[in-house]
Amino acid sequence: MEIDWSNLGFGYIKTDYNIRCTYKDGAWGDLEIHESEYLSLHMAATVLHYGQTSFEGLKAYRGQDDKIRIFRMRDNALRMQDSSYGTMMAKMPVEKFEEAVLKAVQLNVKFVPPYESGATLYIRPVLFGSGPQVGVKPATEYTFIIFVTPVGPYFKGGFQTTPFVIMREYDRSAPLGMGKYKVGGNYAASLVAGQRAHELGYSNIFYLDAKEKKYIDECGAANFFGIKNNTYITPKSSSILPSITNKSLMVLAQEMGLNVEQRQVAVEELASFEEAGACGTAAVISPIQRIDDFDEKKSYIFSPDGKPGLISDKLYHKLIGIQYGDEPDTHGWVTVL
Ligand code: PLP
Ligand code: COI
Repeated sequence: MEIDWSNLGFGYIKTDYNIRCTYKDGAWGDLEIHESEYLSLHMAATVLHYGQTSFEGLKAYRGQDDKIRIFRMRDNALRMQDSSYGTMMAKMPVEKFEEAVLKAVQLNVKFVPPYESGATLYIRPVLFGSGPQVGVKPATEYTFIIFVTPVGPYFKGGFQTTPFVIMREYDRSAPLGMGKYKVGGNYAASLVAGQRAHELGYSNIFYLDAKEKKYIDECGAANFFGIKNNTYITPKSSSILPSITNKSLMVLAQEMGLNVEQRQVAVEELASFEEAGACGTAAVISPIQRIDDFDEKKSYIFSPDGKPGLISDKLYHKLIGIQYGDEPDTHGWVTVL
């Protein structure tokens, strides 16, 4: 099949191989290479009934030098261990996770899109309870899989501003709940709101904190940041996913001479932001044109002319510069294949 690299959306395209590993009798087995996209699963597997599952998302980038770089995979490995803690699943060891990522990319190297296309190879590790239980108990058997698929931008248009919305009738996660873990149920919980937002013409919904409905949390697939007075501001909350992209942008912002604040961001504060963006592996930086407060019938406009702000633009190019190898990797974030 010929792939039109420059016009890829964020969808699934079959690649040649996936990597699998099973946890059984208290130990992880060897990494296995599979060609099939399918698996045979016990019908009482805990993933199906009780949602014992987590996933990760990272990318491989083909540079101008044709080298392939993977961004901060150790952080994804550690976050998957956190998700295992939150769902009582077996923890995939960091080194094994990294070895599986490298193997998955290596074996599918022809699917890493060319540099000029702006597309990347999305790497999707997933871990789930594959052992049977009927009582609400953790499984004793787990399956870890990594598949890869070439992707374009997550939000339409790539690095272009789009509108987002706030709707108080939906919550994504509770303050002491699962929002800080990358577990399947969080995404199921965001589907109705996401679809509603799309139907109304928005890229996605920004959830407020579920308890007070006063502060910005994040959207279903990306963190939020705003820029004002030479300061990068991003929400601190116990119900959002600690984004590796956001963590990286905070470092880059500081290096560019911006102040960085991670703190609660009240909805009304949106009025004072000069720029705003959604950030994540899939989203990269998706600059926000405006956020409509659906319930209060208010609009917070960040980009009257529809163009990304100057600081968002600078951060975006710095980040992808490091990821593609156009900029030096001074933090040891990149693994060259
Ligand atoms: N928030 C949520 C809910 C996500 O699913 C993601 C994607 O992983 C992010 C934020 C961004 O995190 P990262 O930058 O680590 O990809
Ligand atoms: C990512 O940014 O990698 C995500 O996981 C977001 C989404 C595709 C769930």
